[in-house]
Amino acid sequence: MQLFGGIIATSIALLSIIHPIIGQELGYGTLKPEEYDRPSDQIDADIQEMVSRMTIEEKIGQMTQINQDLILGEDGVLNKTAVEYYAKNYFVGSYLNQLARDGKNFDHQEYAKTIEEIQEITLGVNSTYKIPIIYGLDHIHGAHYVAKSTIFAHGINLGASFNPKLAYETAVVTARETRAANVHWTFAPVFDIPTTKQWARVYENFGEDPYMSGIMGAAAIRGYQGKYKTDRSKVAATMKHFIAYGAPYSGQDRDSTVTSDRIIHDYFIPGFQDAIDAGVATAMESYIDVNGEPVVASHYYLQELLREKMKFKGMLVTDWAEIANLYTTHKVAASHRDAVRLSIDSTSVDMSMVPEDVIFFEELKQLVLDGVIDEPRLDESAGRLLQLKKDLGLLEPEGWKVDSSLAIGLPEDIELARDTARESITLLKNENNVLPLTEETIKRVLVVGPTANTLAHMAGGWTIYWQGATDDGWKGVSNDEQFYSNGTTIYNGIRTAAPEGTVIDYMPAFDIEGNDINMDKVIAAANDYDVIVVGVGETMYAEAPGNIHDMSLPEGQIASVKKLADTGKPVVSLLVEGRPRVLKSIVDDSDALVQTYLPGPWGGHAVGEILFGKVNPSGRLPYTYPKNSGDMNVNYWRQANDVWDPLYEFGHGLSYTKFTYGNISLVEKENGNTVLEPGMARTVSIQVTNDGPYNGLETVLMYIHQPVRLITPPAKLLKGFEKIQLAAGESKTVEFEVSADMFRYTGVDRVPQGAIDAGPVKVLIGDQEFDFEIRA
Ligand code: BGC
Repeated sequence: MQLFGGIIATSIALLSIIHPIIGQELGYGTLKPEEYDRPSDQIDADIQEMVSRMTIEEKIGQMTQINQDLILGEDGVLNKTAVEYYAKNYFVGSYLNQLARDGKNFDHQEYAKTIEEIQEITLGVNSTYKIPIIYGLDHIHGAHYVAKSTIFAHGINLGASFNPKLAYETAVVTARETRAANVHWTFAPVFDIPTTKQWARVYENFGEDPYMSGIMGAAAIRGYQGKYKTDRSKVAATMKHFIAYGAPYSGQDRDSTVTSDRIIHDYFIPGFQDAIDAGVATAMESYIDVNGEPVVASHYYLQELLREKMKFKGMLVTDWAEIANLYTTHKVAASHRDAVRLSIDSTSVDMSMVPEDVIFFEELKQLVLDGVIDEPRLDESAGRLLQLKKDLGLLEPEGWKVDSSLAIGLPEDIELARDTARESITLLKNENNVLPLTEETIKRVLVVGPTANTLAHMAGGWTIYWQGATDDGWKGVSNDEQFYSNGTTIYNGIRTAAPEGTVIDYMPAFDIEGNDINMDKVIAAANDYDVIVVGVGETMYAEAPGNIHDMSLPEGQIASVKKLADTGKPVVSLLVEGRPRVLKSIVDDSDALVQTYLPGPWGGHAVGEILFGKVNPSGRLPYTYPKNSGDMNVNYWRQANDVWDPLYEFGHGLSYTKFTYGNISLVEKENGNTVLEPGMARTVSIQVTNDGPYNGLETVLMYIHQPVRLITPPAKLLKGFEKIQLAAGESKTVEFEVSADMFRYTGVDRVPQGAIDAGPVKVLIGDQEFDFEIRA
């Protein structure tokens, strides 16, 4: 990290991170957007030729993905007989999931070796062509299933950073560390738009805004994939989960989404379209049914929309067991065979994440032999699958072997993980400027609470294990060196950042369920300290096991913070949570509230540096924070007439300095031209000034608003953002393009994104507004 700045008007040397914030049009890396590889429009002639010679079984085998537990014992020993069995009889084309020995993940070399063994056995069977398998892992925040890799903050922190460069760079590292393990494919990034805040998968996403999500996700895709057709440090990315998964009606993971086509087109689709336009190589459909229609069998969603309208050319995989689920849970098929027929016949699904048996293979084969499904349907998917393998280099001689020069866990990767935490942590409340803690008044700090002294809570789910590095050891140990020697707790981060001589002590006080551990001792000791820092939040979870029925934090946590406040000492509450849990009295009982989200195991430094003013907080909420438990569906882009009473709105986030906005205007050459016509753009500029005492980063958000249109308009909608760096006293001018097309929506005629209504519209930046008029 580079630092700049210094002492300005106070005794605190307040520093700020310098990141070259690269314009959104540049593609974030070194390449221009058009230089990044993308799935080709056509399957190559050599692949078509291959497919034409393959047997039905070989083609279905390519479409079959199974879980590693069918070939690997819990002792980490590869069952070579099983690999041979699946290769010989089922021509299995893909495996997924973490490789571990007695609960400890393999390191990258063990992964590489085991996957090479799988490849050798697979290539050894008698088949028309020797085709290596493609291995897939959910590396959604770093290569977290590979021991000693760099684990980053979750997607929600990237969203809060509003810095696409971080999404790009963390994906570059994740790709390299994934490929170092000989794994070719990551099931990331996530574009679900979590409109339902109670949902257990909020944290995997970039947030509730479609525009920002699309920008971040596209940057991540470019980072993962780069020039993946020639660069063997890259992996295929996956845009998931198509579509409308982020809005479960009940708030529970995998429950159905009940929504309108208009909401789907205007809010859920745009991020996925950005992913396709960025060249994403694969897509995963979602677990759910939308208005009763299971996505995995939906001709409308997966064929008409995804392939024909959105022009997705890549490979489409199902989510876990989704084809079987048509029979077992969705109840739209009367048998397994019917389930396979429904999905394969109505959609363009290329690969079934089966994943625990060979029913998919058997049933699809029978359907083809019975003439129910045509062989050309298999050719279509086998073609896309082999093309992907070819693009990733797998079909080259020895292309399935690992490049052992690929490194993992480099010091600069870890610094990047810290930077992601530094730029995402969001200051929600700072009464009487209790933060930053100053050397003169703060000599003794008491740190308490369950999330302030464990890495596992900071890292959340999808870390080491699916459910996170749980204390009860989700299938294994959580205190091994692969994790606990790789990170900095909040407590240790505070100790590292504190000025010399400051006393920092930790006492647990209460546990994550809110149970009292040694609250009496804490209260008795409080008098000896100048400030209490308390870490509250959530336990680790992923997907449905994280379902909750009440958005409030556990009552015991809330009551404990009250007791701390009753000591009369200033209380700084740190939130470590994957979704915005309702805080109740914690808000008033805290002098400062700091949202860390899931900052990852390297997040501790960032918290310490922010508390002691070494880093000026610059994160902004990537979602709306509800005030009450009943408000699980609050989104800032609500309809303009909806009741609106959140705790904090999307985009909220304080700084130690003060930014003022002024001089909103058209750029000079456009003076007076306030008419917008479809197909043309104008440029608005705004001056942002750092009027406070500290250097800082400011995210400038540009919203649009149409006061009157034929379908009730959203209150506002984000259409541009830029994170800028301003030294104390400095001003900068930021420009945004505004076009009539930004106001496009799904109108009364129900044509997706087909309407732009004429009339007055506004651009909103900070407290400034600029008026335009749309003429048809
Ligand atoms: C999740 C996906 C994930 C898959 C494979 C599913 O349960 O919904 O996001 O990629 O498992 O692990």
